[in-house]
Amino acid sequence: MEAGHTPVLAEEVMSTLAPARGSLQIDATLGGGGHTERILEATDPDGRLLGLDADGAAIARVDGRLRPRFGDRLVLRQANFREIATIAREAGFDQVDGALFDLGLSSFQLADTDRGFGIRAGGPLDMRFDTSRGVPASELLASLDTNELTALFRRYGEEPKAGRVARAIVEARSTAPITTAEELAALVERVLPPNPRQPRRTHPATRVFQALRIAVNEELEALEAGLTAALDLLRPGGRLVILSYHSLEDRIVKRFFAAERRGCVCPPELPVCVCGRNPRLRLVTRPSLTPTAAEIEANSRARSARLRAAERLAA
Ligand SMILES: C[S@@+](CC[C@H](N)C(=O)[O-])C[C@H]1O[C@@H](n2cnc3c(N)ncnc32)[C@H](O)[C@@H]1O
Repeated sequence: MEAGHTPVLAEEVMSTLAPARGSLQIDATLGGGGHTERILEATDPDGRLLGLDADGAAIARVDGRLRPRFGDRLVLRQANFREIATIAREAGFDQVDGALFDLGLSSFQLADTDRGFGIRAGGPLDMRFDTSRGVPASELLASLDTNELTALFRRYGEEPKAGRVARAIVEARSTAPITTAEELAALVERVLPPNPRQPRRTHPATRVFQALRIAVNEELEALEAGLTAALDLLRPGGRLVILSYHSLEDRIVKRFFAAERRGCVCPPELPVCVCGRNPRLRLVTRPSLTPTAAEIEANSRARSARLRAAERLAA
């Protein structure tokens, strides 16, 4: 398999999603198509898969790589997964056997020197998955005030020194705008010097980059909307599998699964249920799966991965 397509927790995704021959599946985050390829192989000879990605480059790349092999069993759409309900219904995937979300960004995006996702790759600070919508990260850096930048780095990056970074950005941009990943990484490195007693495993700007990317793409809002819509598309017995890469994403998945497992949303002080909601999910992984040291050694992108899976119950 070509580098960059190496799917994270591939065996665990396959065993929890359990795609049967002939089944209908959705890959909400196509990326390099690594998981999609495995799912299409497992659903051979007539299973079909709808693959979404907000990034048009991902769609084009997977189309070129997998179309010759899988033909019209592979249905591709460039779309944000927050629109999964409409897209799936239009494509004839309104009752599916499985849906996979492998969140965050792909190795291709991280290595792209034109989009500013990666600290090492550098490039203009854009960070949008879909470059035709929203505003690039450089615009956020240019327009938000110190308090807004502090809140953004704190909320989406859990950066303990958020205020210090925000003040340095506002000061630096009074001389010249910050437009590249290299400039931002160097600025954060200057403001947050290494602590000799705590050797760093990651670049000091990692949390700031994560925060900007999440904000630019409204990733957490999209995740909440995507999960709810995907559950509605699952037939009873269908599986929902989510790979998350940081605690903000994982918290949303965990809470969503817990609420759908419980059903009733009445306040605890009510003596009887008045909402009438039934549980819609049962957990398949309890509580979650993480990669082995060997997988992390072979694929560093797996480092922080966490897999949660659940099965749709009969209504
Ligand atoms: C981790 S990669 C997926 C890798 C893929 N599973 C593989 O095996 O190659 C995540 C992909 O999801 C896409 N993505 C992230 N958020 C999205 C959203 N809200 N809607 C659609 N695509 C999204 C990104 O553009 C990226 O290509």
